[in-house]
Amino acid sequence: MNITTIILAAGKGTRMRSELPKILHKIADKPLLRHVYDMSHHLDNNHIKIVVGHGAELVIETLKDLNVSWIEQKQQLGTGHAVQQVSDQITDDDTVLILYGDVPLLKLATVKQLLANVGQQSLALLTVDLKDPTGYGRIVRNTEGQVIKIVEEKDSTAAEKSIQEVNTGIMALQGRKLKKWLNQLGNNNAQGEYYLTDVIEMAVADGFTVATNQPETVDEVLGVNNRIQLSHLERVYQQEQANRLMELGVTLKDPLRFDLRGSIESLGQDIICDINVILEGKISIGNHVNIGANTHIKNSVIGDHVEILANCVIEDAVIGQGSRIGPYARLRPESVLAEEVHIGNFVEIKKSSVGKGSKINHLSYVGDTSVGSRVNIGAGTITCNYDGVNKFRTVIEDGAFIGSDTQLVAPVTIGKNATIGAGSTITKDSPENQLTLSRSKQISLAGWQRPVKKEKS
Ligand code: UD1
Ligand code: CA
Repeated sequence: MNITTIILAAGKGTRMRSELPKILHKIADKPLLRHVYDMSHHLDNNHIKIVVGHGAELVIETLKDLNVSWIEQKQQLGTGHAVQQVSDQITDDDTVLILYGDVPLLKLATVKQLLANVGQQSLALLTVDLKDPTGYGRIVRNTEGQVIKIVEEKDSTAAEKSIQEVNTGIMALQGRKLKKWLNQLGNNNAQGEYYLTDVIEMAVADGFTVATNQPETVDEVLGVNNRIQLSHLERVYQQEQANRLMELGVTLKDPLRFDLRGSIESLGQDIICDINVILEGKISIGNHVNIGANTHIKNSVIGDHVEILANCVIEDAVIGQGSRIGPYARLRPESVLAEEVHIGNFVEIKKSSVGKGSKINHLSYVGDTSVGSRVNIGAGTITCNYDGVNKFRTVIEDGAFIGSDTQLVAPVTIGKNATIGAGSTITKDSPENQLTLSRSKQISLAGWQRPVKKEKS
C-alpha cells in the first residue's frame, strides 16, 4: 500500500499570542510539526505533504531537513480547501492519510489501525468520546449505528450538540475518491468554509461505509490552540518518557520532576535520577550512574559508575567510568574525561581532556587544555587561554601538581611530575620533576604598627 500523508499546518494559531507560527512551538524542545512528521515518517511507502500558510517561509526554513513536499495555502478557507491544494499531487491508488501539524502526540499504532480500516468501499475515521464535546464536529450515526455525516458545532441542532462522539479530523481514504469528493465541496455553511468533514456525507451517498476507531487516550488527538494546552501536552509527553525510562530500569525520584528533551541513545541499568534532572539532545548513560538534583545534561556520554552531584551543567562532554562530578560543576563542549576523574565544585572545563585519576576539585577554570593522568590541580587554578584575540593551549603532563591560586598563561607546558608552587603565574614551560614557582618574596616589617582611628575634632 502506497500512502500519501497530508499534514494540515496552515492555521495561524491566534490564541497562542505569538510571533511564532503555532506549529513551531515546541514540546520537549521539538516543534509540534516535527513530532507529527517523526511519527508519520515511520510508515512505509509514505509520501508526506505539508500544507503551510501562516509563517510558511519560517516554517519551511526551520524544518528544511524534512523529507516532504511543501504546499502553500495562501488563504485559509477551511480544512477542505487546505486538502484541495494538494489534490493534483494525489495518486489515485494511494491511500491518503490526513493529519494535523498541531496534534503532536498521535501514536503510530493508532494510525496503523486507522489505515487498516480503509477498504474498497470504506473510509476510515478516528473519533473520540468527550465528556464535553463543545467546539468539535459531532459524529452523526443512523439508528443502525452507522456514521452518516459530521456536523460542525456551529451548524448543529440542539440534538446534535448532545452527541459526545466527536471528529478528531484524522482520517484515511482512497486517493481516487478523495479527489472526487474534494471537487464537490461547497462552503454553504455557518462559517462559509470548505469543510473537509463534508466528505463523509458524500462518501455515504456513494455507498461507502465509515469505519471508525478510537485512540487509546484522548491526549493522542488533542490539538494545541493555546499555551495552556501546550503545557498539558508537554506534561503528558514527559510522563510517557518517564514511564518508559522507569520500565527500562531507571529510578526517577519523582517522575513529575524529570524532563527528557531528546533521545536516549543507550541506557545502562541502575541509573538513579534525583529531582529536576533535564536530559537533552543525544544522551548515553552507563550502568550504576547517579545523577543529582537540578542537573542539566545535553549531548553527552556518561560511563559506568559515574556520580554526578547536584546542580551540574554538562554539555557535549564525555565522562569516563568511575568519575565524580560536582556539585556545581560545569562541563562545556568538548570536555573529555577519562576514568576516575574528579571535578569538584565551581569548576569549569572547556575543550579539554583530563586523564585517568586526575582531580580538579575546587574553583578552577580549565580551558583548551590537555591534562594528563594522576594530575592534581589545586583550588583556584586558572588556565589563561585567551589573549583577547587568540586562544592557546595548555599542556599539563602526567603526575603534575598545580598549587592553589595558580595562573597558567598559555601556550605553556607543565612537565611530568612537575610541581607548581601556590600563587604562581606561570608563563614559561615548567620542567619535569622540578618545583617551579613565581612568587614575590615574603617579608615581615618588625616595627610596623596598625593605624589608629583619628579623634574627631
Ligand atoms: C476541525 C473539524 C472538526 C473537528 C476538529 C478537531 C472541519 C471542518 N472541522 O474543526 O470536525 O472536530 O477539527 O480539532 O474540518 N487548517 C488549515 N487550513 C485551513 C483551515 C485549517 O491548514 O484553511 C488546519 C489548521 O491549521 C488546524 C487544522 O487544519 O491545524 C484544523 O483547523 P481548525 O480551523 O482548527 O478546525 P476546527 O474548526 O477546529
Ligand atoms: Ca481546532
